[in-house]
Amino acid sequence: MTEPLIELRNVTKVYGGGVLSREATVALDDVSLTVQGDTPQIVSVVGESGSGKTTLASLLMGFIAPTSGTVRYRGEDVSKLRGEHMREFRRDVQAVFQDPFSVFNPFYKVDHVLTVPIHKFRLARSKSERTELMESALETVGLRPDETLGRYPHQLSGGQRQRITVARALMLRPRLIVADEPVSMVDASLRATILESLRTVNQTLNVPILYITHDLGTAYHVSDHILVMYRGTIVEAGEVETVINAPKHPYTQLLIDSIPWPDPTRRWGEERVERTEAFSVPDEHGGCRFAQRCPSAMSKCVTAPPPPFLSSPGHAASCYLYADRPELPKEDLSTLLTLAPPEGSSIKAS
Ligand SMILES: Nc1ncnc2c1ncn2[C@@H]1O[C@H](COP(=O)(O)OP(=O)(O)O)[C@@H](O)[C@H]1O
Ligand SMILES: [Mg+2]
Repeated sequence: MTEPLIELRNVTKVYGGGVLSREATVALDDVSLTVQGDTPQIVSVVGESGSGKTTLASLLMGFIAPTSGTVRYRGEDVSKLRGEHMREFRRDVQAVFQDPFSVFNPFYKVDHVLTVPIHKFRLARSKSERTELMESALETVGLRPDETLGRYPHQLSGGQRQRITVARALMLRPRLIVADEPVSMVDASLRATILESLRTVNQTLNVPILYITHDLGTAYHVSDHILVMYRGTIVEAGEVETVINAPKHPYTQLLIDSIPWPDPTRRWGEERVERTEAFSVPDEHGGCRFAQRCPSAMSKCVTAPPPPFLSSPGHAASCYLYADRPELPKEDLSTLLTLAPPEGSSIKAS
């Protein structure tokens, strides 16, 4: 296996004040995650609003610095990248944001969004090369160049605008695309086409995609692996089918139960945990962050944050209900995400 593309190691992000300040928000709490470049997958990061998803994305993109821990890009500390290395990083890791409008200037034709990076990164040597590049990028995301180029942003639908931002990202031949809630501000009817365009980019250009969403439904449809976040921690990780069909963490079970799934004959999350011990969780404790809401909270849960346990091959949950299973070091949790374990194999890559 080659060197990881991006690596978060024990990353904590605290906003406002110091770690001990009352006003401080721990947006990310000791998160480790690795994205491999050689096994391009779509990995979803799912969690409710405020769980730290955008913070995770911003750290990965080098927009903000961790309070502690490190973010490495191909082995180099992102906060220390300068000059040519920074430029390379900016090209290699592309973002697709929640609001496609934020990228467009209403007074410029949409072409502008595509020509700026072409100039900035010198992607084309001639006008015809430039046109060719823009057209093929648009076609890859399912847009017709003659219906897109030459138009103003307001003349296109939200779905078309968002697909243009995907086209813009892929023109740069990135090594990773980070898409933070790319469909949450788009009409439901247009979501599928945008997600499809991400899937196409992933499959035809072999670009790994980190798909960040509060919507478990779209995550299920688009991704290979899934990572569930709760209040700044990763609570569950694994292959999407396994996690959705047999969620282990009580929080994931709650998330799945709250979703109206389209197929009523399918039973989601059949495995359910029983309340094991009548236990009243104190208001403040140094244990599991979900304990207060957890129907299965036990006295153990408030003693220390649960480490990830390997509930089944390729599937881990940070929950003491699985304390009888093998405990994983946090770094291994991300191994689960980045490598599709071949049938019956052990989860370790090396
Ligand atoms: N710039 C900021 N300053 C202070 N607090 C912030 C800032 N950005 C995010 N937060 C807080 O950090 C937590 C995680 O936020 P965020 O990463 O945006 O979550 P998500 O994207 O999952 O909704 C929230 O409690 C949010 O209020
Ligand atoms: Mg967010």
